[in-house]
Amino acid sequence: MENSNKRTVLITGATGGLGTAMCKELHKDGYTVVGNYHTKEKAVAWMDQMKKDGYPIELFYGDVSDYDSAGKMVSEIEAKYGHIDTLVNNAGITRDGRLINMKVEDWHAVINTNLNSVFNCTRHVIQGMIDRNFGRIINISSVNGQRGQFGQTNYSAAKAGMHGFTKSLAMEVAKYGVTVNTISPGYIATDMVMAVPEKVLNQIVAQVPMGRLGGTHEVAHLVSFLASEETSFVTGANYSINGGQHVY
Ligand code: CAA
Repeated sequence: MENSNKRTVLITGATGGLGTAMCKELHKDGYTVVGNYHTKEKAVAWMDQMKKDGYPIELFYGDVSDYDSAGKMVSEIEAKYGHIDTLVNNAGITRDGRLINMKVEDWHAVINTNLNSVFNCTRHVIQGMIDRNFGRIINISSVNGQRGQFGQTNYSAAKAGMHGFTKSLAMEVAKYGVTVNTISPGYIATDMVMAVPEKVLNQIVAQVPMGRLGGTHEVAHLVSFLASEETSFVTGANYSINGGQHVY
């Protein structure tokens, strides 16, 4: 599709498996897409490859776990692209381990990167969305925030917290044409999931009625759906995309 859509989308954690798929999908759907990165070497290689593949997407540095760094990133993007219409809070990490072994830094790293980042980035874009009477905040949570996961007290707490944020902010900004939604992916074929020990991963996939991992493009398609003009009455919702692993 030709780039006819004037809306600008910022995707945090753009260089990861899900982030990359989202960048491609939204670019194909005509959005102006910008991404966020944390590691410079990875970002340079990513931009080169994406350009070669037909996705000329610019990345901006920002440590989303840091309020001021997130603010600087948003200012730089706004200076160049005008404004941000859709924010996809996608950046996330894991530091898996049973609570009895969990180091305090592994707790804080996950809460800061996966949950505090949602405040840090959203706080800097929300006023502009309210002023323009249009906005989309899409928070990428996880099935493990819905059901819990052995070895993920930090991750599950952060991912569950995201949806509390979604529901509350959705109420605050609904009358300004700004929607706030959560997507809760199950086990998707990304580097993060492939790092789970093979035996454990096989056991998890065996519990998925579809009997397979999800594809990154499947999540990216849902992001594009929620970013669209047509979903203007959808807010405060949580979309599960997990192959039937957790139904409720
Ligand atoms: N339920 C119940 N008991 C379990 C269990 C489970 N799911 N998994 C392990 N155990 C038990 C083991 O049987 C073992 O018991 P015994 O001591 O009696 O033998 C005990 O717990 C210790 O197991 P491990 O040796 O595996 O413990 P560990 O401390 O070495 O490793 C772990 C723990 C790091 C959490 C490892 O089990 C693991 O990596 N699990 C996968 C966690 C996971 O799914 N992460 C998802 C990452 S991807 C992601 O997060 C994306 C997303 O949104 C989905």
